[in-house]
Amino acid sequence: MHQSVLVTGASSGIGEECAVFLAHKGFRVFAAARRLDKLKELTAVGAGRITPLQMDVTEKTSIDAALARVAEDGAPLYGLVNNAGASAMGPVEKLPLSEWRATFETNVFGLVAVTQAVLPQMREAGRGRIVNIGSLTGRIASPFQGAYAATKHAVEGLSDSLRRELVPYGVKVSVVRPGAINTPFGAHEAEMLATYEADESYGDQVKAFKAWFSKQHPNAPSPVVVAEAVHHALTAEAPHSRYTAPFKMTYALALRNALPSAVTDRILERVNGLDKFRK
Ligand SMILES: NC(=O)c1ccc[n+]([C@@H]2O[C@H](COP(=O)([O-])OP(=O)(O)OC[C@H]3O[C@@H](n4cnc5c(N)ncnc54)[C@H](OP(=O)(O)O)[C@@H]3O)[C@@H](O)[C@H]2O)c1
Repeated sequence: MHQSVLVTGASSGIGEECAVFLAHKGFRVFAAARRLDKLKELTAVGAGRITPLQMDVTEKTSIDAALARVAEDGAPLYGLVNNAGASAMGPVEKLPLSEWRATFETNVFGLVAVTQAVLPQMREAGRGRIVNIGSLTGRIASPFQGAYAATKHAVEGLSDSLRRELVPYGVKVSVVRPGAINTPFGAHEAEMLATYEADESYGDQVKAFKAWFSKQHPNAPSPVVVAEAVHHALTAEAPHSRYTAPFKMTYALALRNALPSAVTDRILERVNGLDKFRK
């Protein structure tokens, strides 16, 4: 019998790649998101092992309905890939609180809600894997990404607690931190940034930042680098607590950890095209 894994946010980008990749590696995959029509396309490419599931991670009834379908299989879930995510871009001072709340609802509370819903069956089985998709932004926060960075920092913290809590139950927890990856996510973020280009206080900085930011995702690696890390986290005897994908971004993290903030601020300003605004 194939081990089963639930991948949230599987209708696009990283989640879609993970669903197909894991199906080809022999997993029985439950691919969940809100857009069922997009998920149904995966049944043709997933080696016959992908089942689409409609699920909004911000709605408990929706999570429960999807997990009821998973339970029909009779076997407990072996893996959960908490990948569903959203972003909100804009200056901390200007981004409406409703946008902050919506981003936390999906990236943090939604992730927690799905995790809470699957944990009883994993604990009872005495085994399981939870893979939380964080972000490099969960360690290095660029300007105008405050809300998103806050959610991904939260994912880092809650994953540490969860990993330590679940040791006695044989359930292992990893965070996979993608750097920029070529998915529709970046274009959507750039669109959100564009709404602040005319802002009387931050407009010039947003324009300069967006000129750099807009080039990142189209030239970034394919989501397969993330799927490979997720696969390792699901299958290794001793999975890492953290993966960075692509691996070369671990050097950026090492620098961030080693250098004083004043130095990393200057480097980031230069990279982001914001150094000319320094006073
Ligand atoms: N792309 C990058 O550069 C990058 C970098 C670092 C981290 N990440 C993280 O990687 C994850 C996937 O991002 P991506 O790049 O693949 O973006 P994407 O292509 O925009 O996909 C996002 C996925 O999340 C789903 N989703 C959003 N809100 C949801 C909700 N309330 N309930 C269920 N599903 C929901 C979307 O599906 P529906 O709209 O159909 O529900 C979609 O399948 C996110 O957690 C993101 O933060 C991405």
